[in-house]
Amino acid sequence: MEARKVEILQAGIGDEPAILPLMAAFNRTEGIDWKPGPMGAALRRLLGAGDLGLVLVAREDASRAVTGYIIATFGYDLEFAGPDAFITELFVQPLSRGRGLGRALLDAMIGHLRMRGTNAVHLMVRPENERARALYAGRGFRLAPRIMMTKPLVGHDP
Ligand SMILES: CC(C)(COP(=O)(O)OP(=O)(O)OC[C@H]1O[C@@H](n2cnc3c(N)ncnc32)[C@H](O)[C@@H]1OP(=O)(O)O)[C@@H](O)C(=O)NCCC(=O)NCCS
Repeated sequence: MEARKVEILQAGIGDEPAILPLMAAFNRTEGIDWKPGPMGAALRRLLGAGDLGLVLVAREDASRAVTGYIIATFGYDLEFAGPDAFITELFVQPLSRGRGLGRALLDAMIGHLRMRGTNAVHLMVRPENERARALYAGRGFRLAPRIMMTKPLVGHDP
């Protein structure tokens, strides 16, 4: 396979137009009803404010096209005695898969999180998503001994 150079860079507000189509595709893959209005606004807020989380993009060296991205949001957990983070999205466009981009994005994110003193990083993955599970397991992620439950606090009945 042709070896193409890829850069992993911290995204800023100017990267929003390049990330949005990938984000729409990610949410389709995950079966999430992606609403460009509120979810696009949430991405803009994240890109503009360094304290909410971190977005990294993979850019192909030649075309400069964004072919993948990863997002982590910041939290704080006493179980891990301090700051933690949640990887909310990781996506590599289909034509660029299998060339190490997913691993490079994940490694870069873990490196950034370590540098800012994060004590643990969590993520969710569909049980049948074997490719992603293999990637995460290879980087030391283990099944947590709990299930996740969610209650939206806006736009739903109490
Ligand atoms: C999951 C995803 C990000 C992986 O990206 P990628 O660039 O193809 O991954 P890489 O080339 O870096 O490979 C990483 C690991 O994935 C696994 N993998 C790669 N190609 C694979 C394949 N064809 N079949 C099974 N596992 C595969 C391997 O464990 C590989 O690690 P290794 O190279 O050390 O063996 C990408 O497939 C994707 O965007 N999928 C759709 C969105 C998604 O599922 N995101 C995760 C949601 S939690």
